[in-house]
Amino acid sequence: MEIVILRDAHEVGRTAASAVAALLARRPDAVLGLATGSSPLPVYDELARLHAEDGLDFSRASGFALDEYVGLPGDHPESYRSVIRRDFAERVNIDPVRVHSPDGAAADLEDACARYEQAILDAGGVDLQILGIGTDGHIGFNEPGSSLASRTRIKTLTEQTRRDNARFFSSIDEVPHHVVTQGVGTIMAARHVVLVATGAVKAGAVHGLVEGPVTAMCVASVLQFHPHATVIVDEAAASALD
Ligand code: F6R
Repeated sequence: MEIVILRDAHEVGRTAASAVAALLARRPDAVLGLATGSSPLPVYDELARLHAEDGLDFSRASGFALDEYVGLPGDHPESYRSVIRRDFAERVNIDPVRVHSPDGAAADLEDACARYEQAILDAGGVDLQILGIGTDGHIGFNEPGSSLASRTRIKTLTEQTRRDNARFFSSIDEVPHHVVTQGVGTIMAARHVVLVATGAVKAGAVHGLVEGPVTAMCVASVLQFHPHATVIVDEAAASALD
């Protein structure tokens, strides 16, 4: 695991985006794994800038979102399908048809999960997975206690995660209780994982990820077993590291 400690979120975003740009230069039809939330925003800002100013080309790339709320219609402004479109896809020249999200509104969710796994396989697997980390160490929405071999499935959000995400809704009561998320095994199958974390609120989770024992109680710690994981953090998020 490679750990990169930088001054602030802006530098974190620039460094993670440069890994995406290098991949696209090598492999224009790369498959990107896309996280939502606050952490990847500086990455998407920088990718949008590289596209606008340097012509970084996403026309042959494709993307797979990590997760989706269950029960929100796809066009709800806080569905992750909408968030990925707004924060990333609409700001670069990626073909919207090649930007996929799990279907959290499907009548048969288990079937939707299986279809999502198949779609990732059919695309040849994820080349570079952008990840954030929850304050409880989750990646995707694989909350503490998740199977480290899991594939895309339905999960229940912890109260901590619902509280953390309430800022995107008008009240915590509107935050869905369930999500469809890529599993830990799905994420581990990505060829390169780039996890970004910023702010002191993530310091404990980053400590567990980097220096803790590998345990399902801090799911991100499994990335210690990943053959190519890059952890890019600011000084505040690195503040609990030895
Ligand atoms: C989002 C996701 C989550 C977030 C995590 C951190 O697609 O899968 O694991 O990355 O909850 O969220 P932020 O970045 O908002 O602190």
